Amino acid sequence: MTLILGLEGTAWNLSAAVVSEEKAIYDAESTYKPLHGGIHPREAAQHHASELKSVVSQAVKGIEAEGYSLENIDAIAFSQGPGMGPCLRTVATAARALSISLKIPLIGVNHCIAHIEIGGWRCGVKDPVVLYVSGANSQVLVYRSRKYRILGETLDIGIGNALDKFARHLGLSHPGGPKIEELAAKGTKYVYMPYVVKGMDLSFSGLSTAAKDAFTSHKHKKEDICYSFQETAFAMLTETTERAMAHRCKDEMLLAGGVGANRRLQQMLRTMCQDRGASFYVPETEYLRDNGTMIAYLGLLMYKSGNTTPIEESTVNPNFRPDEVEVTWRD
Ligand code: ATP
Ligand code: FE2
Repeated sequence: MTLILGLEGTAWNLSAAVVSEEKAIYDAESTYKPLHGGIHPREAAQHHASELKSVVSQAVKGIEAEGYSLENIDAIAFSQGPGMGPCLRTVATAARALSISLKIPLIGVNHCIAHIEIGGWRCGVKDPVVLYVSGANSQVLVYRSRKYRILGETLDIGIGNALDKFARHLGLSHPGGPKIEELAAKGTKYVYMPYVVKGMDLSFSGLSTAAKDAFTSHKHKKEDICYSFQETAFAMLTETTERAMAHRCKDEMLLAGGVGANRRLQQMLRTMCQDRGASFYVPETEYLRDNGTMIAYLGLLMYKSGNTTPIEESTVNPNFRPDEVEVTWRD
């Protein structure tokens, strides 16, 4: 049996988790919560530095309860990017130190692909069109010839950041996405919002501005604005995902990333899939948002295919794109 320890800390969530081929064994977490405003990269990195020892110790205690020990760990996986530079560097330094002191290989993992692979594992789906929607990212991807190809993506900010930005304007604390979802459920009237789809790509920054303007005009209820924001953004995402499925002749789709927890988005995608006779898959919420298990799991796949990272190649990459990674663990 192979055991991999995974470290995640690209943004506000720090996590250390252990997986084997059979299961996710333990996931210890510590979340940085900004007092006001959005995530401050340096403050988040300081949070990670002070909590790292504690989350790793908790993960080790967690596996000891299952009869394993630190000596049983075969490799250390960590998020090499994309993410916030100071956060990535803090976690990578800890991963290198563990790899050297335990004399086991290091595995630099692409955070986006980790979101995709954990979803595939949890849902038992092999070759879907993926919609990956989180704070910083919004991408439609499909696997082909040893790469996850990005068929469409946001041209500016991620959908999660667009929601969080508008939520801050409403005076709501981070993360704003779930609070907008609650307000949107009470909205009934559609307020005009810009629907920006360019080919297979999307743009969300105009939507945040339009929602802000609608709110400051005092002409609309905030519930209606949240409802309209969601309806517009999620229809844009559903449209591009459907076009990817049609062009690639795929009859399965997988939802990944933190925004995937939104029930209205799930409902729209499910309806689209049903209408075309396709299957819709979404993992449990704990595997949609950032978690250490996904890093450990992709680390396991990479390790088993002989794909490890020499220390000199373990520099973090805040703009690491999923299509830069050669997929060694699939046929
Ligand atoms: P990435 O580096 O992949 O962009 P991330 O740091 O943004 O990851 P995730 O946990 O994948 O982290 O996603 C967080 C985002 O998900 C936040 O923008 C948050 O507002 C959003 N979110 C969480 N729950 C919901 C929801 N129910 N509806 C809409 N958005 C949500
Ligand atoms: Fe993420």
